[in-house]
Amino acid sequence: MSTPSLFLGIDVSTTATKALLIDELGQVVAVASSPHTLQTPRPLWSEQEPHEWWLAASASCRSVLEKAGVSGENVAAVGLTGQMHGLVLLDEKGEVLRPAILWNDQRTQSQCDEIHQRIGKEKFIQITGNVALTGFTAPKILWVKENEPAVYAKVKHVLLPKDYVRYKLTATYAMDKADGAGTVLFDLKSRDWSSEVLDELDIDPAWMPPTFEGPQFTGRITPGAAAATGLIAGTPVAAGGGDQAAQAVGVGAVEPGVVALTVGTSGVVFATTPSALIEPEGRLHAFCHAAPGRWHFMGVMLSAAGSLQWYRDTLAPQMSFDELLREAGPVPAGSEGLQFLPYLSGERTPYPDPLARGAFVGLTLRHGRGHLTRAVLEGVSFGLKDSFTLIQNAGLGEISQVRASGGGVKSALWRQILASVLEAELATVNTTEGAAFGAALLAGVGAGAWPDVESACKTAVKVTGSMMPDAAQVEIYREAYPLYRGLYPALKPSFGEITRRSPEGIF
Ligand code: XUL
Repeated sequence: MSTPSLFLGIDVSTTATKALLIDELGQVVAVASSPHTLQTPRPLWSEQEPHEWWLAASASCRSVLEKAGVSGENVAAVGLTGQMHGLVLLDEKGEVLRPAILWNDQRTQSQCDEIHQRIGKEKFIQITGNVALTGFTAPKILWVKENEPAVYAKVKHVLLPKDYVRYKLTATYAMDKADGAGTVLFDLKSRDWSSEVLDELDIDPAWMPPTFEGPQFTGRITPGAAAATGLIAGTPVAAGGGDQAAQAVGVGAVEPGVVALTVGTSGVVFATTPSALIEPEGRLHAFCHAAPGRWHFMGVMLSAAGSLQWYRDTLAPQMSFDELLREAGPVPAGSEGLQFLPYLSGERTPYPDPLARGAFVGLTLRHGRGHLTRAVLEGVSFGLKDSFTLIQNAGLGEISQVRASGGGVKSALWRQILASVLEAELATVNTTEGAAFGAALLAGVGAGAWPDVESACKTAVKVTGSMMPDAAQVEIYREAYPLYRGLYPALKPSFGEITRRSPEGIF
């Protein structure tokens, strides 16, 4: 038997489950991915069948081992990550009670209001670090109680998506601290369940699994899971982290001062904090980090590169992204007065508003497709600046570096716009596999390959490039940003009215 020296990261994302193997130098050996389906049974709803995650995870594990030309014996430890906030309910036998209600589901506004009313909004922010938002887990539990009492009566376990896969892998109920905080049932300071919040919301504490720091082992692969995945029974499984915390580990954003900017389907500005800091109005999410003893702030934009994807698919499906972006390059910064609001699926930061909508504002006959494309890149960048500014003003001290990752920043044009809008140097790093990579590093720390998360990141993550703000663009964007900022408040009443008058609902 060969010495196990590889670490496996499994990422249960919204679109697919990815499995990724790294070696002891933190280098990627192989990656495999298997898709899932997503159901929207009603406007605003977003659900998935947990069983699909397990099938996809098993298939990706087998496939990644095959691609790497290794066997399960070579894997020293597994780390888990995945989409945050999704509600998985199990009965006493561990059977799934209903489809999981996902992070981008927007059905729970009245339950969010109820939580604030029952506990008091300020007190809730003081305990959990956050306001209750429709995407988070706690209001979803109340929704099931109010709307599906027969299901609620059978609940014995509450899990998050990757922790359902953990349960299938190890037959144990467990969760990491980062994802635990994202339920908003956590006491942020003590990094564990808040008995006060659970009590006020009448949620049985026995339903909540024990929680662990990212690198800690939570269980071992069972013989049944070994047969399904190709892993070896007894292989340890580390807690890992919610996808944003694991992504931050994956790009080395684990120390205060280094901000991670992710331009994926959603857009995230993430800053490590040395203690359980909160933004007093709850405009930033404040969760535990996957790095032990660290916390983080985060601003989340729901449609970042997702806006460009929608725009291409809808208005120029025959064109590649490269072709579209080539047309936007020569358009002057500011898109000659054209603005784009990226709230295509509502918004979280800085406006927690499921009714917010997208818009092009300022169209004239002069504007062509290149202007529209550039306006999308600029509008998303302005939206990310909203989160970035909140983080700059959160009392964290100097931001020494912004590390950019995600599909959107593959474009040099978009990186340049972002650097000029944020007025910050954007560093790119060698690690592009995001959350799954971070989960594999956490498994490596758990197995003792590195003494701590910071050292793992120092070994594996290197800065490979940088983009500086362009002085001329900075001037133009300083003029355009306040106009962008004025648009949401001006249009908000119309967004509400449009929704009230649409028979089909919001999306
Ligand atoms: C974070 C969030 C999303 C999901 C899906 O708060 O809701 O990033 O984790 O990836």
